[in-house]
Amino acid sequence: MSESANTTRKKRVFSGMQPSGEAHLGNYLGALRRWVGMQDEYDCVWCIVDEHAITAGGNPAEMPKNVFDLAVSFLAVGLDPEKAIIFVQSDVHEHAGLAWLFNAVTPVGDLERMTQYKDKSQHFESIPAGILNYPILQAADILLYKAEGVPVGEDQRQHLELTREIARKFNATYGDTFPITEPLIDKNVGRIMGLDGEAKMSKSLGNTVGILADADRVWERVRTAVTDPQRVRRDDPGRPEVCNVFSLHGFFTDEATRADIDTRCRAGTIGCVDCKRILADNITEAFAPYRERAAYYNANPQEVRRILDEGAEKARVIAGETMDEVRQRMGLVWRTQLKD
Ligand code: TRP
Repeated sequence: MSESANTTRKKRVFSGMQPSGEAHLGNYLGALRRWVGMQDEYDCVWCIVDEHAITAGGNPAEMPKNVFDLAVSFLAVGLDPEKAIIFVQSDVHEHAGLAWLFNAVTPVGDLERMTQYKDKSQHFESIPAGILNYPILQAADILLYKAEGVPVGEDQRQHLELTREIARKFNATYGDTFPITEPLIDKNVGRIMGLDGEAKMSKSLGNTVGILADADRVWERVRTAVTDPQRVRRDDPGRPEVCNVFSLHGFFTDEATRADIDTRCRAGTIGCVDCKRILADNITEAFAPYRERAAYYNANPQEVRRILDEGAEKARVIAGETMDEVRQRMGLVWRTQLKD
């Protein structure tokens, strides 16, 4: 390897996931599996964003377990503390600190235009400022580490656009400090639809299945999945192209079997229950190694703790440097006016 190739810095990427316990199929297909694959090529920072999870309150009694369980899922699928920084947002106080400073360069109008804000705010009579300011904290997450890329789903594109705007505005006002981060959106994976076939997979909608579920639990959930609504009787001809179960086969089932299911579904010679059975079995088998690793971490919680402690320590070093620079640029350095 040439000298320059040797010293070329890997690009840094940052991504975050809210802690709602064990990761589910949507988390895995839409994010985690991709994160795992990035760990050799990029300098990766993976964060459990518990401070995002409390922007509208949340349940304090459930939070510690939700954070721990998501950490176990991270480690089970192969996020690797040897390769990446893995930590919990609230362990690194600079996230909230930088978010406060970014208030100065974020127009309220931009926040009010966010579609997620518009959706979420409808559920409140009195809207918590947290859900309005949510994208400011997200920008702080990313820019604290000067991340050049952020692997996210299409639903986060607008938040990333705002992150870029905040960086531009900060740089223009206080001097060049932050990169203009690229959203790394996986074009091959669209929205992962929930088992109800109606909405994006999400734990709060109850339309998903946990990645650490055993065979019985997987079957229990997959059995309920909505298929082609025009298929009422077992021998009605089906349309795989509109069937969410068939699209999930795309992730777990080999091509020959998929072609066979396709043919038999259209001919009405395989029923939805049999088709779901194959999917459930394949999901169970694909995730078997993750269940095994999760069992190890659940039996050794101190190891999870050590990994997250070390992750936070590494994160704090980078975050601290960025904050020093930002405070300098914003003039939050009163000692410099002392003449000695
Ligand atoms: N808003 C993201 C989501 O709901 C989670 C998140 C918080 C995030 N901070 C981040 C994602 C920083 C990427 C980068 O999925």
